[in-house]
Amino acid sequence: MRIDIISVVPEILKSPFQASIMKRAIEKNLVQVYFHNLRDYSKNKYKQVDDYQYGGGAGMVIMAEPIDKCISKLKAERTYDEIIYLTPDGKTLNQNTANELSLKENLLFLCGHYKGIDQRIRDMHITREISIGDYVLSGGEVAAIVLSDAIIRLIPGVLNNETSALTDSFQDNLLSPPIYTRPREYKGLKVPDVLLSGNFKKIDEWREQKAYEITNNKRPDLSKKLL
Ligand code: ADE
Repeated sequence: MRIDIISVVPEILKSPFQASIMKRAIEKNLVQVYFHNLRDYSKNKYKQVDDYQYGGGAGMVIMAEPIDKCISKLKAERTYDEIIYLTPDGKTLNQNTANELSLKENLLFLCGHYKGIDQRIRDMHITREISIGDYVLSGGEVAAIVLSDAIIRLIPGVLNNETSALTDSFQDNLLSPPIYTRPREYKGLKVPDVLLSGNFKKIDEWREQKAYEITNNKRPDLSKKLL
């Protein structure tokens, strides 16, 4: 898989891809990630990419031309399965979307900044709009990192134990059961006996029951989807 990310502040993007699972996925060549600085596509001598809104109103808007130039150059080099604009008014990201996108070859993410981007870019180039939640971030960069992480960990071979992505919370609309590691007792709190029993049928049943209990308590909205 290849992911291209366009941003006005690509320096925000770098470090999350240089550690842990995303770093390993890149090192194993299971994913290639490229950052593109929108300012490189500005024809302005100060590398300006934003301007005032037509019609008035607070906040600057990223101009169409530098984004169009950058996206057009990338599109000429390869075919993108999706060109995704990260925006609070997009469809809220969930596990299904991450699963679906993890099967794609080439993804292009566009991060907004300031008040957003000129609508004509959305009309011309964007195939999907994704939000990471009902709150407003200063830009789409953090959202692009979240989306990349959710996708990259699902690419076969990225996680050591492939089943561990399949048993993640949300894969079946269930939250995860409690987990424990050594020691058996910590400050008087014991690991549930069943997990030490060696009876894997019982352990699976216990985990499933706990997953249902926890989902009912914490996320009744998800529980309804189980019915
Ligand atoms: N840009 C600003 N806020 C955002 C959000 N909640 N999701 C995606 N992109 C954003």
